[in-house]
Amino acid sequence: MEKKPFYITTPIYYPSGNPHIGHCYTTVACDSIARYRRMQGYDVMFLTGTDEHGLKIEQKAAEKGVTPKEYVDEIVKTFKKLWSYMNISYDRYIRTTDDYHVETVQKIFKALYDKGYIYKGEYKGKYCTPCESFWTESQLDENGCCPECHREVTEAKEEAYFFKMSPFADRIEKLLTETDYLQPKTRATELVNNFIKPGLEDLCVSRTTFKWGIPVTFDEGHVVYVWIDALSNYISALGYWNGEYNDFDKFWPADVHMVAKDIMRFHAIIWPAMLMALELPLPKHLAVHGWITFNGQKMSKSLGNVVDPFILGERYGADSIRYHILREMALGADSSFSNEIMINRINSDLANGLGNLVSRTVTMADKYFGGTLPEERETGEFDDELIAEASALRGKVDEFMDKTQLNNALAEIFKVVSRANKYIDETAPWILGKDESKKARLAAVLYNLLDTIRIVSSLLSCFMPATMPKVWEQIGAGNDDVTYENAGKFGVLPANVTVHRGEIIFPRIDVDKEIEELNKIIGNKAEPEAEKDDGFEPVPVADEITIDDFAKVDLRVALVKECEKVKKSKKLLCLQLDDGMGGRQVVSGIAQWYKPEDLIGKKVIIVANLKPVKLCGVESNGMICAADTPDGAASVVFPDQSLPCGAKLR
Ligand code: MSP
Repeated sequence: MEKKPFYITTPIYYPSGNPHIGHCYTTVACDSIARYRRMQGYDVMFLTGTDEHGLKIEQKAAEKGVTPKEYVDEIVKTFKKLWSYMNISYDRYIRTTDDYHVETVQKIFKALYDKGYIYKGEYKGKYCTPCESFWTESQLDENGCCPECHREVTEAKEEAYFFKMSPFADRIEKLLTETDYLQPKTRATELVNNFIKPGLEDLCVSRTTFKWGIPVTFDEGHVVYVWIDALSNYISALGYWNGEYNDFDKFWPADVHMVAKDIMRFHAIIWPAMLMALELPLPKHLAVHGWITFNGQKMSKSLGNVVDPFILGERYGADSIRYHILREMALGADSSFSNEIMINRINSDLANGLGNLVSRTVTMADKYFGGTLPEERETGEFDDELIAEASALRGKVDEFMDKTQLNNALAEIFKVVSRANKYIDETAPWILGKDESKKARLAAVLYNLLDTIRIVSSLLSCFMPATMPKVWEQIGAGNDDVTYENAGKFGVLPANVTVHRGEIIFPRIDVDKEIEELNKIIGNKAEPEAEKDDGFEPVPVADEITIDDFAKVDLRVALVKECEKVKKSKKLLCLQLDDGMGGRQVVSGIAQWYKPEDLIGKKVIIVANLKPVKLCGVESNGMICAADTPDGAASVVFPDQSLPCGAKLR
C-alpha cells in the first residue's frame, strides 16, 4: 500500500548569529512530530533551512569585511552542526541563496505581477530595519515606533512594488476564524482585529536601497522583499517552478507549518494571500508556540542570557535537552528557561523516573533469573491496572500529537512511568524473590514491567531518539517489538525474554555543583559572545546637549504601589506610584513584557516633569524609564530597592 504523505516545516532561520536554545524548540518539536509520523507509517518530508537575504545580513557581512554569502556560509555550518548534534532528522535543508529557490521566487514575483496582484507604486512610509518591515503611520505603536519590536523606524520614500492584499481579506478572515488552520485558535481574534478589520493594506514587496536579495527579473535595481522570498521556501523546496525537485504534487499542501508567535502574522495573513493569488491550496495547519524566555524576556544570543545548546548537550546529553524543552513548552504559552528547573526535571523524570524504572527492573531480572525470565507466570493484584494504562497509552499520545501538544503527550507517557514505579512498590519483587514458591509471580511482575518499558520507550523514541535504543538493548526488545503497531499492544516481548544490564541511562545530576559550574561557564562566555554575535544596533546618539539641558529632565526614583492593565489597550499598563511627593499615576507601554505582578513592589525610575498626556483616555503624569533590548523588547530599569522614593538622579 502506498504511504500517505506528511509534510512538516520549521521556519527558515536567519543566520545573523549562531543558533541558541530558543531556535532549538521549533526544530526539536518538528523533529519529534516527523519521527512520530514516520513511525505511524507516513511518507514524511521534514523541511528546515536558512533565510539568508536582507539588509541585516548585508550590514553584518560588511562589518566583518566579507561578502554576505561568505558570512552566511559560516553560520549555516554551525546550524547544521547543531541539528546533527540534536539528532534532527530533516529530509531537506533549504538555503534561500540556492539557485533553484531564487528561480522559484523570481517566477512567483513575475506571475503575481502578470496577474495584476503586484503593481508598481511609490512607497512613502516607515521602515524598521531590524524587522525588515514596512509600516504605515496607523500601524505604529503609541510611541510612533515599530509595532513588532518597538524600536525607532525611519522615513522611507522610493519607487517600489506592492502586493494587493485586500482581495483576499474575506477568505483570510474565514480561514482564521472558521477553520482550524491556526492553532491555538485564541490567537485568531488578535490577528483579525489588528490587521484585517482595519482593512488589509497593500504590502510593499520590493526594495531598491540594498542589493542582498533576489533581483526582480523585469526591473533592474529592485530586490524582492525578504518575507516574499522566505515564505516561498515552503514550495520551492518541493520543486515548485524549478527543476531541482519533483515533490510538489505529492506533499503540497503542507500538513504543519510550525512557528513562534512573533512571525505568526506572516504565516497567517501574507502567506495565505500569496497562495490564494497563485491559486494554490492552503497549508492545513499553522501551529504557533510561545517563546523560551529567560527572566521574562525572549531568549536570544544578544541578551547575553543564552545557554549554549552545545554546552548543555555535552553535559547532560542531547536527549535530556530535547526532553526538557518539549516538556516545558505548552502550545500557545511562553516557557521560562532556567538551568535549575532543567536539572531538576532531568533528575526527577529521567534519572529517578524512567532511568530508575529500567535499572531496577533489569537488575532484578538479572539477579533473580540470571537475565532470562521463566515462561511460567502467575497473575496477581495490580496487574490489570498497569496493563490497562500501558495498553491505552498509544491512543492518548496519538491524540496529543494530532493537536501538536507535545508537552501533554510526554506527560501521558510519564504518568505510565510513575504507574510502573508504583507497581514495583506495590508488588515488592524483592520480597517475592526470597521465596522459591513465588517465582512464577515474580516472573509475571518483571514481565509486566519490561513490557510496559517497551511501550513507553517505543513512544519516547520520537522525542529522545539517541537513548531509547539503549533501553531496548537492556530490556531485550528487538526492532520488531518497538514498532508503532506494537506500541498499542501489551504482551509483545517473548515470555522468556533475556535482559542485558548496561550503563545507567540518565545519571543523576548534583544540582548545586552543576549550577555553580554552569554559572561559571555562562559568566565566562557571556561578555565576549554578546560582543561577537550581538544583533543589537544601538540607535544613533542624539544631538549634543549642555548640562543645563540635561538638568531640565527631572528623573526620580519611585515605588510601584498598584498596577493594572489599561482596558481597551494591549500595550498599556497603568501604575500608581509613590514618588515621595504625594504619589502619581503613570501609563506605560510595557504590557507586552510585564505583568502587573512583576512590577508591584519594585522601584523604578521616572521622568517626573514630563507634561501630562492622556493615553487611551487615561492620564499619565510622567514616564517609566526602560532600555531597548536587542530583541526589540523594553526592559524596565530597576534601581537599587534601598533608594528612597523621590530621590533625584543626577
Ligand atoms: N527568517 C525568519 C523566518 C522565515 S520563515 C518563512 C525568522 N528567523 S529567526 O531566526 O529570527 O527565527 C526563527 C524562529 O525561531 C521564529 O519562529 C522565532 O520566533 C523562533 N525563535 C527565536 N528565538 C526564540 C525563543 N527564544 N523561543 C522560541 N522560539 C524562538 O524569523
